Amino acid sequence: SRGTTRSRDGEIVVAGLGAGELAQRFGTPLYVVDEDDVRARAAETLAAFRTAFARVGARTAVYYAGKAFLSIEIARWMSEAGLRIDICSGGELAVALAAGIDPADLGFHGNNKSVAEIDRAVSVGVGVIVLDSLHEIERVAAAARRHSRIQRVRLRVNSGVHAHTHAFLATAHEDQKFGITLEQAPDAAARIRAESSLEFLGLHCHIGSQIFGADGFAESARRLLAVHAALLLQGPVPEMNLGGGFGIAYTANDDPTPIGEIAERVAAVVADECERLTIDIPLVAFEPGRSIIGPSTFTLYSVGTIKAVALGGSTEAGATCTDAASVRTYVSVDGGMSDNARPALYDADYSVRLANRMSTAEPILVRIAGKHCESGDIIVNADYLPGDVAAGDLLAVPATGAYCWSLASNYNYVPRPPVVAVRSGHARVLIHGETEADLLRRDAAYFAVDETSS
Ligand code: LLP
Repeated sequence: SRGTTRSRDGEIVVAGLGAGELAQRFGTPLYVVDEDDVRARAAETLAAFRTAFARVGARTAVYYAGKAFLSIEIARWMSEAGLRIDICSGGELAVALAAGIDPADLGFHGNNKSVAEIDRAVSVGVGVIVLDSLHEIERVAAAARRHSRIQRVRLRVNSGVHAHTHAFLATAHEDQKFGITLEQAPDAAARIRAESSLEFLGLHCHIGSQIFGADGFAESARRLLAVHAALLLQGPVPEMNLGGGFGIAYTANDDPTPIGEIAERVAAVVADECERLTIDIPLVAFEPGRSIIGPSTFTLYSVGTIKAVALGGSTEAGATCTDAASVRTYVSVDGGMSDNARPALYDADYSVRLANRMSTAEPILVRIAGKHCESGDIIVNADYLPGDVAAGDLLAVPATGAYCWSLASNYNYVPRPPVVAVRSGHARVLIHGETEADLLRRDAAYFAVDETSS
């Protein structure tokens, strides 16, 4: 994060607070969020899209994708920066409402929202519900009738553009569970328009996540606009939503296109395409999650054990492994796939830094492993640490703001770590860490055991 520096004696310092002090106060593992970094990225993202679309005489809206990382405070930071919030479950809706977010500023996603979730969303006045299937047209229309509301809806389509990091793939149809095909859109839109309790806003798509370039978004915008133009023959189509997916750097090899450049490129393509189609430029909305919250956070771990493992499968008796190339150094930390599932789930790459001190020792290649009973429990596949790294040292793994806490689990009955926000030399808990008692309390037999044993 931007507020991260090193003190003179080599300790990592965020917003004026040292890693050592944070570890002492809150323990490890610990998610440390640089609040000003989040607020700045949220504001800059909105400004980038507003500037780019204002240049072509159009309006934009930015929804923060809460699935990346949501808490009551985080929701408020987004709202204070002028962002709306994208939610995709009743739970995320509950957090947004608890934060006091105006329900009109919420967009509700999901390929299988329950009838109860739809009912709640409609009854509290959620701004937009994204219809993901033909089934949902009738379900949401019925809920809106029950609550005597006119519910605004978007229609999720597959643009056929599937983007992943460097490249994008454009196909006629995508084999995936989200949305409907572009060919189905005119009929679906007509059915929406036929429901007097629904108001049609436009099309929505999301082409993937951790995308480095602008090409996929541009291609997706072109494809959506062609259908958008056809839908205008039926009636008004005030908006279009191109989703999220803007990539961030996890390691020194990652080189994502800055959000400002993507915004300019997409705005230009949208403007050109609308001119070619002789239609008005709609309001164009986006839903970034990772690019706003990801870089803001690092996870602080303590080193437990260090192990040099011989590679190369030598079976010769007495073979030694002093050759660095034939040894892998496993540095194990006090967390793992329960607080960061991304390496195990997506083969995601992270980097690591010694956080509590300076060292002039020669760097060694290390693999950072967790404490779980699984060989895939790796946090950092390959990075360098000073060769004198030792048990008790603190390690920081940067860029763990997105899809880490939100994907955390209690695997092996490991309690989820706390989340703290730091700002201007102060730290405060955003989300409490769990205790073993928290985990035991959920076991229905726990109190029975407790009673008989006391
Ligand atoms: N809008 C929709 C409809 C989405 O499905 C998503 C993410 C976003 C916006 C936000 O995407 P972002 O800007 O954060 O890339 N767990 C995976 C990523 C899953 C993304 C799911 N949808 C990971 O950790 O890489």
